Amino acid sequence: MMRRKLAAGNWKMNGLSTDLAELDRLITRHAAPAVDLLLCPPATLLAAASARLGNHPLLIGGQDCHAAASGAHTGDISASMLADAGARAVILGHSERRQDHEETDQMVRAKARAAHAAGLTTVICLGESLDEREAANTLDIIGGQLSASVPDNSTGENLVIAYEPIWAIGSGLTPTLDQIGEVHDFIRTRLERRFGAGVGRSARLLYGGSVKPENAAEIFTISNVDGALVGGASLTADDFSAIITAL
Ligand code: G3P
Repeated sequence: MMRRKLAAGNWKMNGLSTDLAELDRLITRHAAPAVDLLLCPPATLLAAASARLGNHPLLIGGQDCHAAASGAHTGDISASMLADAGARAVILGHSERRQDHEETDQMVRAKARAAHAAGLTTVICLGESLDEREAANTLDIIGGQLSASVPDNSTGENLVIAYEPIWAIGSGLTPTLDQIGEVHDFIRTRLERRFGAGVGRSARLLYGGSVKPENAAEIFTISNVDGALVGGASLTADDFSAIITAL
């Protein structure tokens, strides 16, 4: 099964219109990318970012959506609104949203179901805390998050899983290659068991957490790592481009 590699950038709560110059640089530098590219700027920049792409294949994505199609939810954004602004994907269940907004697996699953129904690809984030890793509970935690956060209407095309150990995010720390490999193999097996080999083998698995130009190449040698979800190093075209090249 040949899965297309995917380099995804998560700008988090960073970026004003002037920062879209980094997107311009990125698509100029990777005019015909050999891998899939996804950039998730803040919602305020989605439409402007999409408008700058022309025919470039880079995909623009959101960082969250509401589970409802529309209605009285002040400040929230529906999946179809993201799609209407040009988004083709959405990050869901990032640990920062699980922490800051008390998002549960059940909420993530409902959001993902809505996003798939709106035609978006979901990048569903899973990850253990340092305490959970040190207590040797990593696979239990990941298995629980995986089964409860991923909706039944997932396909090999619309489902991307990002393994992001919470302690590796923005910290400069990364798990060993064996630790990443163990979790990714585990996720792959679980997806195959639940959805069958077709979907289970087509869904892409990203690693996220302090991916930098310096460590990207070795992380990308791990089997079942199909790319990366990159935070800080996606903010500049220079760093993100080096990671894309390593893929
Ligand atoms: O979603 C990406 C992320 O949480 C990783 O952030 O800054 O460690 O690459 P960073």
